[in-house]
Amino acid sequence: MAYKDLREFIKALEGKGLLKRIKAEVDPYLEITEITDRVSKEKGSKNVALLFENVKGTSIPVLTNALGSMERMAMGLGVNNLDEIGERVRNMADPTQLFPSPGASFMEKLSVLPKLNELSNWFPKTVKKAPCQEVVMTGDQVDLTKLPVLTCWPGDGGPFITLPMVATVDPVTGITNLGMYRVQVFDRNTTGMHWHKHKDGARHYSHYEGAGKRMEAAVAIGADPATIYTSTAPLPPVVGEYLFAGFLRQEPLEVVQCKTVDIRVPAHAEFIIEGYIEPGERRTEGPFGDHTGYYSLADEFPVFHVTCLTHRKDPIYPATVVGRPPQEDAYIGKATERIFLPLLQMVSPDILDYDMPVEGVFHNNVIVKIKKRFPGHAKKVMNTIWGTGMLMLSKFIVVVDEDVDVHDYSEVAWKVMNHVDPRRDTVILDGPLDILDHACPYVGFGSKMGIDATKKWAGEGFTREWPDEIKMSPDVIARVDAKWRELGF
Ligand SMILES: Cc1cc2nc3c(=O)[nH]c(=O)nc-3n(C[C@H](O)[C@H](O)[C@H](O)COP(=O)(O)O)c2cc1C
Repeated sequence: MAYKDLREFIKALEGKGLLKRIKAEVDPYLEITEITDRVSKEKGSKNVALLFENVKGTSIPVLTNALGSMERMAMGLGVNNLDEIGERVRNMADPTQLFPSPGASFMEKLSVLPKLNELSNWFPKTVKKAPCQEVVMTGDQVDLTKLPVLTCWPGDGGPFITLPMVATVDPVTGITNLGMYRVQVFDRNTTGMHWHKHKDGARHYSHYEGAGKRMEAAVAIGADPATIYTSTAPLPPVVGEYLFAGFLRQEPLEVVQCKTVDIRVPAHAEFIIEGYIEPGERRTEGPFGDHTGYYSLADEFPVFHVTCLTHRKDPIYPATVVGRPPQEDAYIGKATERIFLPLLQMVSPDILDYDMPVEGVFHNNVIVKIKKRFPGHAKKVMNTIWGTGMLMLSKFIVVVDEDVDVHDYSEVAWKVMNHVDPRRDTVILDGPLDILDHACPYVGFGSKMGIDATKKWAGEGFTREWPDEIKMSPDVIARVDAKWRELGF
């Protein structure tokens, strides 16, 4: 069953011993980051969610590291293992099930109905009264500086809301998008709006800006974990985040109309910040200690003018800390890796599995496993990945054969270092890159590399004999297994 809101998830975490309440006073200026960073890098039972109940300068508790382990991430999405959701996605997206073949029997055609019915259950439900609007502040009452917004790192340009869900409405389709784009608090009623140019929020804004029009937006903070995750998911624009949250939750997300803008937001959120963005207005945003473990430099971004702040009577402020991996965002990224594999396989069925190392920060590095069927197959798969959604930003792609475990980096390194002739097996091309990449010559544009670490074929110009991998004979393995204890091991 889905969590209704953040506090229900906190209760569940606490019930399983996965959350620690901190009663000692802590400072939202750098101190909460240092504590969270240490705990998020712990292994096993020491890596827990943190609820800071005594935060300097405020009565609002701060939650960090809530999704900061595979166990908590899976729990937040209501599963034991993230691959379970991948399987649900695979089932749902299977075209043979949604669109029976013309020759299908009447019963086979009927079998589609429950699926369509299931789909209809995930659409968001609009409610009139919502917990996120228990307290409403407009005009001069709004003061964002009263929220316990963290200043995370010494070189940060100010305090940043680090777990915001930014809602904007697609001007063409009318679909509400929810994107997690950090929000720098400039003063009591203005913030930055740090959507990268490849993202949906930025696309909506460029549409309004092109027409010389103001765009409305709303920032939700704190919701049930599936909705928080959904705002980070690289969904195609036609799939609304509220619908996808309903799919993950297996029950509809309740949404409510904002007070001063025409946008619906998650009804059970902790806070909602409503406002607008003028065309043409920019202000320096950043620097910010980022996912990469380096500061992203200050740059010019749109400005969000706040018209209204609503919240629960006793709100909890959730935040995440990003910096040198691994931290909480590593597990959010892993959820995306597992959930989106079946969709990638729809575009490229030859991809058997993939892994995105957390050091590569989400989609910057991809290790892919294929069943090689033709000369140049690995290079074809690289091009597919560079042409698919946000995977276009992949800086390094490594392709390995079907017998390699892509999650075992030692095995992958072994294959790369032994199977690759750099001149023959690497592809370097120019294209779009992540805005956070600080090594490329231009912001968001530079070179990327594909490495073909598959076994090479004669049809690929390899005319020598490819050596066999060393493997012991099975009868010797069995014999040694049988006497292993006797040998004193
Ligand atoms: C903690 C966290 C912070 C993020 N901050 C930003 C950000 O500031 N700007 C941005 O463009 N993407 C950011 N992202 C990535 C986006 O949330 C992600 O690309 C998402 O798919 C964007 O939604 P959209 O596809 O609807 O645009 C962040 C992700 C996480 C997990």
